[in-house]
Amino acid sequence: MKTEIFIGKLKLQNPVMVASGTFGYGEEYNRLYPVDRLGAIVTKSISLKPRSGNPAPRIYETASGMLNAIGLQNVGADAFLKEKTPFLNSLKKAKVIVNLAGESIEEYVELARRMERVSAVDGIELNISCPNCERGGIEFGVDPALTAQVVGRVRKVTRKPLIVKLSPNVTQIVTIARAAVDVGADALSLINTVLATAVDIRTWKPRIATVTGGLSGPAVKPIALRMVLQVHRALPKVPLIGIGGVTTWEDAAEFLLCGASAVQVGTANYVNPKAPLQIIDGLSRYLQEKKLKSPAELVGKLQLPGQWRGVPQVISGERRKK
Ligand SMILES: Cc1cc2nc3c(=O)[nH]c(=O)nc-3n(C[C@H](O)[C@H](O)[C@H](O)COP(=O)(O)O)c2cc1C
Repeated sequence: MKTEIFIGKLKLQNPVMVASGTFGYGEEYNRLYPVDRLGAIVTKSISLKPRSGNPAPRIYETASGMLNAIGLQNVGADAFLKEKTPFLNSLKKAKVIVNLAGESIEEYVELARRMERVSAVDGIELNISCPNCERGGIEFGVDPALTAQVVGRVRKVTRKPLIVKLSPNVTQIVTIARAAVDVGADALSLINTVLATAVDIRTWKPRIATVTGGLSGPAVKPIALRMVLQVHRALPKVPLIGIGGVTTWEDAAEFLLCGASAVQVGTANYVNPKAPLQIIDGLSRYLQEKKLKSPAELVGKLQLPGQWRGVPQVISGERRKK
């Protein structure tokens, strides 16, 4: 049995990656286990300039997931290239995907340009859940036109595999997915965190200094599975990477059945740092038991009822009024 899988032209030794913002730049986790066993490492989002992120409190644990508003704290492009790439370059088997975050289209383009000649970088993941500072802070990823603009411009400056990471905070995920693919995205990863809040009834204050944050972990898995299924049915040829609450190999198998070719493990890294390895091994055993030759044989094989009409459309208020 082979465990390798393709995300477009990017070949991964197995379908298990680690999600941006939950694994730093890989070096610390390498003290716990050989991270070279992973399918790929996705770095923390990199911005052009270093960012110190949002004020505390910026993390809160809910009943079934984690609320965070870290605010894209990161070392910035210069320090990433100087200090973080030597370790990433030393990896022989795990692929390295650099996650990019810009405050303007120009910033995304500049970041992609700077990564183009970096041999440690095997692919780019665009985090389009960033506020567009030129357009009053609206997130790129909630608007199909802005999504197309940013992805199209980045596509022009990079030949590396380009993965676009979608925000779940939209009514029409397929519209955004299509906008990204139409201008050259090679693959899509979904989902980023779900916009949420939490309240402290003793102080009557929000639990997070910025009031809202992003929910992740087991709570969001069913939403992520639905979105993967929906996008896979609409765009069956586009490689998808499933993210959201992947904690066990069974979770990973669910995502593959819904149409993901690979998964990313995020919040689970905080609970069990070795979760990605256990998922790799568990998935491999499952494939053997099922006598499958490769994880690709699971992708999109969810048995749907014959009469099923697809995921119900979530129509926004504006559309309904017309
Ligand atoms: C503390 C924290 C920081 C994150 N930082 C980033 C980030 O910098 N860029 C990004 O694209 N996603 C970021 N994410 C989102 C994750 O990569 C992932 O999409 C999301 O958490 C859902 O997966 P999970 O439920 O497995 O955590 C972050 C998530 C957490 C929990």
